[in-house]
Amino acid sequence: MNARRTKYIPALGSRWLTPLYDPMMRLLLHEATFKRHLVQQASIKEGDRVLDLGCGTATLTVMIKQAQPGAEVVGLDADPEVLRIGRSKAAKARVDIAFNLGTAFSLPYRDRSFDRVVSSLVFHHLSTENKRAAFSESVRVLRPGGELHVADFGKPHNTRMRLVSLAMRRFEKTPDNIQGRLPQLFRDAGFEGVAETARYSTIFGTLSFYSGKRPSPPFSLDGRRPG
Ligand SMILES: C[S@@+](CC[C@H](N)C(=O)[O-])C[C@H]1O[C@@H](n2cnc3c(N)ncnc32)[C@H](O)[C@@H]1O
Repeated sequence: MNARRTKYIPALGSRWLTPLYDPMMRLLLHEATFKRHLVQQASIKEGDRVLDLGCGTATLTVMIKQAQPGAEVVGLDADPEVLRIGRSKAAKARVDIAFNLGTAFSLPYRDRSFDRVVSSLVFHHLSTENKRAAFSESVRVLRPGGELHVADFGKPHNTRMRLVSLAMRRFEKTPDNIQGRLPQLFRDAGFEGVAETARYSTIFGTLSFYSGKRPSPPFSLDGRRPG
């Protein structure tokens, strides 16, 4: 079997640390603040179908559903252990979310089946090859005009963040994030209107927000799609 298809790095790098993930995120990364920002940026409407790519313990997934109860929300992760935690978090919050086991580079969904793909802190876990595959898969599953919104570590934007990144770069699978290459990887996969929309300083380095849109095919004058 292709090793690329089976591999993932657990949320904190090792499986035994997974139970500490939620407390660490709350204490060290102020996750409620930045995840709220990502939810607002994604501007999800009633009736939208939304994928949380690499949903982990589903804090963001639950926030999306709470912010827009009229959306159909799906969380996908490659780690069955975080999905178990995510399912129980969703049940406690009494929100209806579908959780699927799968990998970001081979999504188990039909073409053009989502309006939004949202992802937090996942891309830095992936090799360059797998980042490319995950971006391509995101384009594939988005409807024309659909959007990908990502929050992840980015290029340090001040001296303090540059110093922090010296210590943190060993946690990135390959240094695409820290070297500011995510926007180009969005574009290479076919996204348009790609932008870095915001940056936060964190104790782990610069946290950047990105967005990009799957292009809509041009419409003919009578309003029908050509071909
Ligand atoms: C740092 S955690 C982030 C979890 C969550 N999105 C959040 O913001 O709290 C990274 C997550 O990405 C998942 N992951 C890593 N590689 C993956 C892959 N190739 N496909 C799907 N999920 C993956 C891990 O299992 C983990 O749950």
